[in-house]
Amino acid sequence: MNEFIPVCEPMLAGNEVEYVSEAVKTGWISSGGKYVEKFEKAFSEYSGCEYGVAVCNGTVALHLALTALGIGEGDEVIIPSFTMIATAFAVCYTGARPVFVDADPFTWNIDVTKIEEKINTKTKAIIPVHIFGNPCAMDQISELAKRYNLFIVEDAAEAHGAEYKGKKTGSFSSIGCFSFFANKNLTTGEGGMVVTNDAGYYDKCRYYRNMCFPLNAPRNYIHEEIGFNYRMSNLHAAIGLAQTEKADEYKKLRIQNAEKYKFYLKDCPGIIFQKDEADSVNVHWMNAILINPEEYGHTRDELMIHLKENKIDSRLLFNGMHRQPSMQKFGCDMKGEYPVTDRLADNGLYLPSASSLSDESIERICDVTVGFAKHNL
Ligand SMILES: Cc1ncc(COP(=O)(O)O)c(C=O)c1O
Repeated sequence: MNEFIPVCEPMLAGNEVEYVSEAVKTGWISSGGKYVEKFEKAFSEYSGCEYGVAVCNGTVALHLALTALGIGEGDEVIIPSFTMIATAFAVCYTGARPVFVDADPFTWNIDVTKIEEKINTKTKAIIPVHIFGNPCAMDQISELAKRYNLFIVEDAAEAHGAEYKGKKTGSFSSIGCFSFFANKNLTTGEGGMVVTNDAGYYDKCRYYRNMCFPLNAPRNYIHEEIGFNYRMSNLHAAIGLAQTEKADEYKKLRIQNAEKYKFYLKDCPGIIFQKDEADSVNVHWMNAILINPEEYGHTRDELMIHLKENKIDSRLLFNGMHRQPSMQKFGCDMKGEYPVTDRLADNGLYLPSASSLSDESIERICDVTVGFAKHNL
């Protein structure tokens, strides 16, 4: 009898229980306590950055970063049209307008050849998103940012430990942002972190994270600016520290799983994978595939139903930002052409992707997928 295979589940195989128990036993369950700083130090070091500020999720990490950089009303921020909605929401929270750029047809990251045409005098920042753990072309993006004097805020929510030319994602920008949601390669349940090499941004992030309480003065309950409660609890940070200790192990598992999928599906017609660049390490948060229905013989939706019938879970890919009703009132471009994003949204799906996925499960998923293709009809 085949077991149901979920699309993702966390791998909690290290010191999580020990550290969380210690936090509970000592009573340090809010944001005070030793694990928050320990996690910040361990994860920022792992990401090649000097400073880390732990927060309660990846969405607020992005908002905190943009706030620390002074982005607000009247500004424009360039983001990929193919991303999770959090990237766009974080820009909207500041009052700035998200400006969309289509995806590259091969890497599925922001198309670097289409960024420049969207830059104008209002543009303040670019948010490259390392989609599914695949690093963006940071050389080209950094060159553009330098030429037009723009900030870069990396959305590395899906890219823990990914590498571009030997350097970790999150360390290429003014501020890099991560998510530790339960399906991420490293998790705290809910959680996020901003990382930076700039002491000034580090201070600003800590200041806004904690209600704009002064950093280096006694608490007199006078707040000069609007701040946020974006703090991470010591309980979540305890999990995060245990996860970071296993970061390279989990990264390896995710990469091995992706290689197995590519091996088993390589001869199946109509299945397209995201392209990994030779100078990058994609950490394969999710094993996403794009279906060419003419070649495969079925649509993406038919495949998802077939997988479900075989007790295999899958998910749709993100829908384009230009298709989001919520973006309309921010004056975003809802009528532009974003053909690559549309193709991914309409024909793409995630296959199960947990670090703990067994060889037998991957083989079964691939057998079911290949068996449903046209040549087997
Ligand atoms: C690209 C991207 N950015 C931001 C986020 C937001 O992270 P969180 O869910 O922790 O708020 C996610 C979450 O999945 C994401 O995939």
